[in-house]
Amino acid sequence: MKKRVEMVVESVNEIALDTVEMTLSNAYVAKNAQSGQFLHLQVEGHSLRRPISIADIDRENGLITMLFKKIGNGTKRLAMYRPGMIIDALGPSGNGFSYDPSMKTALLIGGGIGIPPLYNLGKELRNKGINVIAVLGFQSKEHVFYEAKFNELGETYVVTNDGSYGHKGFVTNVLSQVAKFDYYFSCGPIPMLQAVTKELHDHQGFISLEERMGCGVGACFACVIPTDSEGEYRKICKDGPVFAAKEVIL
Ligand code: FES
Repeated sequence: MKKRVEMVVESVNEIALDTVEMTLSNAYVAKNAQSGQFLHLQVEGHSLRRPISIADIDRENGLITMLFKKIGNGTKRLAMYRPGMIIDALGPSGNGFSYDPSMKTALLIGGGIGIPPLYNLGKELRNKGINVIAVLGFQSKEHVFYEAKFNELGETYVVTNDGSYGHKGFVTNVLSQVAKFDYYFSCGPIPMLQAVTKELHDHQGFISLEERMGCGVGACFACVIPTDSEGEYRKICKDGPVFAAKEVIL
């Protein structure tokens, strides 16, 4: 259940161009968080909280890792936090990934800063004996992160838009090369998710929508998304961010 908590910054590292990995400690969040959920952080000097997805959960040591891009004033300020500092957070927030534990193989497809929430999911699936295949898309070589970590989980394809590393193009360009899978799980920019869901329309999948969030607590309607039932919508922050791919219209 979501709670207002104080999280202590344990480490902050820039692991790729403008991409920051931050580890925070809080026993309650580490105990209760699920893959695909997010933390709603109060960044000093900014009134609006920032939703940041959870990349890794270390329940034993009470640690949470999250990754974010330094793209605005809030995330630039967040990147300046140092070990020992406290962050006020609401979390763990939202509904994370659910899956069929009897599946044999899962395909994870992530784009840019949509990749982090798939990491803990991949770890969890792997620990349950489920095969993991990952397709990770980045703009270019200097943006690539977590390749080695995903390689530890299973077969991993790295794609860069400009071809400076791995396969050239978009994540959808390599989908025809991956082995058979039972379900796919995807997170990334909306155009990527549109392409992925179109390409894999014959498969069952889950997508995590993180781009369109405002208040993060169900109050502002900034995050509504239409569903397949006429006139109905879902709130990404409350009902998601994870949805069955066929449930929402991108
Ligand atoms: Fe405000 Fe979802 S972000 S209602």
